[in-house]
Amino acid sequence: MKIIETIQELRKELQPHRSNAIGLVPTMGYLHEGHLSLIRRAKQECNTVVVSIFVNPLQFGPNEDFERYPRDLERDAQLAEEVGADLLFTPSAAEMYPRPIRTRVTVAGLTERLCGASRPGHFDGVTTVVSKLFHIVEPDRAYFGQKDAQQAAVIQQMVQDLNFPLEVIVCPTVREPDGLALSSRNVYLSEEERRQATVLFQSLQEAEKRWRDGAFSSAAEMEAFIRDRIETQPLAVIDYVSVLRYPALELPEDLHGPLIVAVAVFFGKTRLIDNVVLPGK
Ligand code: PAJ
Repeated sequence: MKIIETIQELRKELQPHRSNAIGLVPTMGYLHEGHLSLIRRAKQECNTVVVSIFVNPLQFGPNEDFERYPRDLERDAQLAEEVGADLLFTPSAAEMYPRPIRTRVTVAGLTERLCGASRPGHFDGVTTVVSKLFHIVEPDRAYFGQKDAQQAAVIQQMVQDLNFPLEVIVCPTVREPDGLALSSRNVYLSEEERRQATVLFQSLQEAEKRWRDGAFSSAAEMEAFIRDRIETQPLAVIDYVSVLRYPALELPEDLHGPLIVAVAVFFGKTRLIDNVVLPGK
């Protein structure tokens, strides 16, 4: 595996591989099994796999964790290589944004609820950097995780709206044995926060079971049930609990699937997200 820091060098390196399938896995590093599952899938389906690691300042709010976001390039490089990455693209902020960027890619509608409402500007930062990565790498396929379901939906919309000639592939959420979704941010959690954080997936699973039994008469009732469950954990501070149509992310008129049940919860300063998709019948 080659580690490449500049756009020019990456393009040169990819040139001979353009006739075969190129896969891109965009990440912010501090790789875990969730990221590695995307790289493995890309390796199965593509001849050349590019993994990008870039902690994108554009998608962090002023009071968010950009500065303290965990970074360990040496370990990441080893893990990426082990699961089959061919090129590791690790640009600096100056390489990606050599001058103040005046252009933004904005996906309307889909970005208004959930994390878009709590993190103004976040998705513009994501779609802008992902557009840049798509133009730099020109992949045939790009891999994203269902863990960030709204992000995946927003990128799929952008790819269709702007005719990016690539396929977006969304891969299942990888979890710890106790159900907690893997996230680079889990390292921020204290032991007690980590214990209590299992309530996210537990409450989603319980809600799903009850939904299957027809126990809820409205989205509000389902959301209230999940809120009550999460609030049993004293360190949990809810940002949102939301039941929406999937993948449109619109308010549901009834509880027929497909729906997404998405939660964002603070434990101390750490904001965790999770979701489940309830299938259509
Ligand atoms: P990051 O949080 O590093 O995630 C990179 C990719 O890994 C995303 O597609 C994310 O959905 C996926 N992922 C994270 N945790 C996962 C898990 N537990 N199971 C499966 N997939 C998981 O998302 C970003 O970076 C950035 O916003 C990025 C797209 C790179 C743009 O900067």
